[in-house]
Amino acid sequence: MPSIDIKPVTAPELPAIAALAREIWQATYPGIITQEQIDFMLAQRYSSERLSQDLQSADKWLNQAFAGCRRIGFAFCERDKGEYKLDKLYIHPDFQRQGVGGALIAHAAHHAKQQGYPAVILAVNKNNEQAIKAYHKHGFTVRESIKTDIGQGFIMDDFIMEKRV
Ligand SMILES: CC(C)(COP(=O)(O)OP(=O)(O)OC[C@H]1O[C@@H](n2cnc3c(N)ncnc32)[C@H](O)[C@@H]1OP(=O)(O)O)[C@@H](O)C(=O)NCCC(=O)NCCS
Repeated sequence: MPSIDIKPVTAPELPAIAALAREIWQATYPGIITQEQIDFMLAQRYSSERLSQDLQSADKWLNQAFAGCRRIGFAFCERDKGEYKLDKLYIHPDFQRQGVGGALIAHAAHHAKQQGYPAVILAVNKNNEQAIKAYHKHGFTVRESIKTDIGQGFIMDDFIMEKRV
C-alpha cells in the first residue's frame, strides 16, 4: 500500500472533492446505472451547497486520503437513523486495490467504535461487484436488500451491508 495520510475535509477543499467524485463516478458507474442517473446523483450529492451542509453537520464526518500531496480518495460517514453509516467511499482508479479503501474502512470502524456504535453499515449498488468484493474482504456481510426512489424516476437498487466493530 502507498503511504497515506487520512485528514478531515475542510471547506476550501470541497470543489476538489466534487471533482474527484466526478472522475471516480465516471470510471465506476457507466454499465451499472445510466449516465442520466450518474449526473442526477452527482448534482444531488456533490453540489457545493450540499457538501457545505454536510461539512457543517454535527452528524457527518468527512475524511480524505492523500498519497504525498495527491488527494486519492475520500470516506464520508454519518449518523443515519441511529446507526453509523459509511455513506461514501471512493478511491481514485490509479490507487484502487492497494489497501487504501481498507484503510479508510478501518478508520471509520475505529471512529464508530469510539463513538459507541456496535457496527458500521453502508449501501452498495447490487451490480457494483468490485465494491461488494472489497466490502466482504474488509468484514462486511449483506444484511438486507432495498430499493430506494431517489426522485425523477431514478431508483437505487442496493444491498445494505454491515460490519461489527
Ligand atoms: C470499492 C473501493 C472503495 C475499494 O477500495 P480499494 O482501495 O480498491 O480496496 P482495497 O485495496 O482496500 O481492497 C482490495 C479488495 O477490493 C476488491 N477490489 C478492489 N478493486 C478491485 C478490482 N478492480 N477488481 C476486483 N476486485 C477489486 C477485491 O476484493 C480486493 O481484494 P483482492 O485484491 O485480495 O482481490 C474502491 O475500489 C473504489 O473506490 N471503487 C470505485 C468506487 C466505488 O465503487 N465505491 C463504492 C461505492 S459503495
